[in-house]
Amino acid sequence: MTQSFNLERVTFYGRSLSEYKQMFLLDFSDWVGKSILDCPGGPASFSREARQMGIEVCAVDPQYVNNPDKLLEIGSQDIGYVISKIAQTSEQRKWDYYQNLEHLKNRQLEILHSFIEDYRNHWQSQSYYIAASLPYLPFEDNTFELATSGHLLFSFQAHFPKTFTIDSLLELARVAREVRVFPLRANEQDRSKPFAYFEEIRASLHQQGLTVEVKPSAFEFQVGANEVMIVKRI
Ligand SMILES: C[S@@+](CC[C@H](N)C(=O)[O-])C[C@H]1O[C@@H](n2cnc3c(N)ncnc32)[C@H](O)[C@@H]1O
Repeated sequence: MTQSFNLERVTFYGRSLSEYKQMFLLDFSDWVGKSILDCPGGPASFSREARQMGIEVCAVDPQYVNNPDKLLEIGSQDIGYVISKIAQTSEQRKWDYYQNLEHLKNRQLEILHSFIEDYRNHWQSQSYYIAASLPYLPFEDNTFELATSGHLLFSFQAHFPKTFTIDSLLELARVAREVRVFPLRANEQDRSKPFAYFEEIRASLHQQGLTVEVKPSAFEFQVGANEVMIVKRI
């Protein structure tokens, strides 16, 4: 029987602008001067890189209550943990963007260190990195033009109450005009099948006056976890 990719905790594990571009199907040069909420931000180097391009990015994550040394410790442990789990299920991966486990690990460490360097400069001001937890965000309606939400809402659904995904999507759509979510599969599920109650979620979003579009993403590392959801107000 195939082993499932089952993570016992929501990991502090992040990606770079290059992965974000493919995951969310975004050309970030179109977003210069605009505002983006990245939630969860995790230890992604995305916000640092996007800010360097002139995009106003705010990253939100509950782990931002911690100081940089603590986050470096958590992030380093989680890279080891996630990669050991990937090693056990490596046939469920597409090895093209990352060539092999070694390449993946080096890439993750590079991203974590880039994030920590930036976080060290900004964490105390709580301006670029804000500690908060979905489904509640400390922002006014329409604060951002776009929200990106990677590797939490569907991926880690098993760690939250059933209503978490829909409540979080509605909250993201309250504070941002457009919301992009990747991927649309739970980590441990059979990824040839849709997320268990995706249609229920889609119907709830429609009822709240939101449009939902699902597109093939340009990023596929977990085989089958290859779609992005785009939510907009009608
Ligand atoms: C796997 S990381 C994803 C980071 C980044 N978005 C990416 O795709 O690379 C998942 C993150 O979700 C954060 N998280 C856990 N519970 C959360 C919540 N209720 N609201 C927002 N973020 C949460 C964790 O702290 C962790 O940093």
